[in-house]
Amino acid sequence: MNETNPSGTQSIWMNSPVESVWRSLDRSLETDVCVVGAGIAGLSTAYSLSCEGKSVVVLDDGPIGGGMTERTTAHLSNVIDDGYVTIERLHGEQGSRLAADSHTAAINRIETIIATERLACDFERVDGFLFPAPGQPPERLEDERLAAIRAGLVGVERIERPTGPVLEPEGCLRFPRQAQFHPLKFVAGLAQAIDRCGGRIFTNTHVETVTGGEQVRIETQQGHIIVAQSLVVATNTPINDMVVVHTKQAPYTTYVIGARVPKDSVPAALYWDQADPYHYVRIQKNVAADAHDVLIVGGEDHKTGQANDGEERHQRLERWARERFPMMERIEYRWSGQVMEPTDGLALIGRNPGDTSNIYIATGDSGMGMTHGMIAGMLITDLIQKRANAWATLYDPSRKSLKSIGTFVQENLNVAAQYVDWLSSGDVKSEDRIPRKSGAVLRNGAQKMAVYRDEQGTLHRRSAVCPHLKCIVAWDSTEHTWNCPCHGSRFDAYGKVLNGPANSDLSPLET
Ligand code: FES
Repeated sequence: MNETNPSGTQSIWMNSPVESVWRSLDRSLETDVCVVGAGIAGLSTAYSLSCEGKSVVVLDDGPIGGGMTERTTAHLSNVIDDGYVTIERLHGEQGSRLAADSHTAAINRIETIIATERLACDFERVDGFLFPAPGQPPERLEDERLAAIRAGLVGVERIERPTGPVLEPEGCLRFPRQAQFHPLKFVAGLAQAIDRCGGRIFTNTHVETVTGGEQVRIETQQGHIIVAQSLVVATNTPINDMVVVHTKQAPYTTYVIGARVPKDSVPAALYWDQADPYHYVRIQKNVAADAHDVLIVGGEDHKTGQANDGEERHQRLERWARERFPMMERIEYRWSGQVMEPTDGLALIGRNPGDTSNIYIATGDSGMGMTHGMIAGMLITDLIQKRANAWATLYDPSRKSLKSIGTFVQENLNVAAQYVDWLSSGDVKSEDRIPRKSGAVLRNGAQKMAVYRDEQGTLHRRSAVCPHLKCIVAWDSTEHTWNCPCHGSRFDAYGKVLNGPANSDLSPLET
């Protein structure tokens, strides 16, 4: 899905644009597999299937990697962000082992593809360091170490402190053989490889409807039809499912800064802590082609559409980072991204619940979108090729987890509470109160309006009702988007849909 919003922030990856050679779809086609979504999940699936001889068509309504792939911090890790203690509690020791195995396999698969296809994408194997949150009981870190070892991770050790950063003084865990890369360079290379294998990629092509059956019929906004034996929906959050999947995951917005640091002053590694929400850190080398590296620091998550204080969150991240990385110089990048948090900590990958057997989804990145995306590429390929896959049950989107029922109820009560916004008066009393390059929700009789005032002072009015399940959207002054507080749909300042589950724009106002 297209995330490009002219007024929004730019991630560090968007600063080194990758040449795009792809065109939009201009005719109807038949194919074995249609993949909707050209992020890492969609492209890794398309790559595997086209290399195995399937005819594959990829569609995306934006450019390659234009969704959350360009807003990730691209940690490649087998250390699951919810922690192995939690994963073992929710999925059992065997489930925890399979989860660890799948993320390890995903990193290895990325490394293999990079070597096979000779992709220049700054891939680097690095250590990962997990730090305790300030003041947490010391046994929590040790519990995590033991759970990670039971999950089958090798070489996990407790150390007093890694060289470089000034994080918490209580010691940390070291996880060997993690990795990092440049996500946009990787997916751009993957797209070229798909093309070489005979796959066909069409960008700036919006899928309007999906009709299941023995063959799946996909219709684009321009009226072209794709008829496919199988469909893979890899649009961050599915656009083909109205309800079921969206009760199993919740959208969170996460914030990131990128700061100059003197070259080699921070060792290349992945760093996280156990705070809630947690902080995550890495280094990107050689980006500026001068004497500096870029320190990337993320965190300060909140539920999408339920806070509008991105500037303060970026400032808090900066304060947190300066205390721990005193070599930090000026901030060069500030951006945000969206994370889909599944209620039981693992992605939802496989057959779409309630559909016939030929529609597949990949969603619920859980802050590990790069590895979960690559797992989707391997797992969905096996499902389509009718091969057994040991991870299929673990990631099955139809799974039910009684052990995560508390989180499930809590998240869905939170969604229900958002409908109260229908009764509120709005953000401001009149349109005069809306500054330039800003938006606000206003009441107009029974209607709620999403009103944006552009740079020239012109007002743009749309309905504030999200076309998905009719929650009221909220203005995001960091990204200049309208965000839905229920399931995370996002729209640009003028109401154009950027991110599902909504698949259409905010409506014009009723007259
Ligand atoms: Fe579901 Fe808006 S995303 S109601």
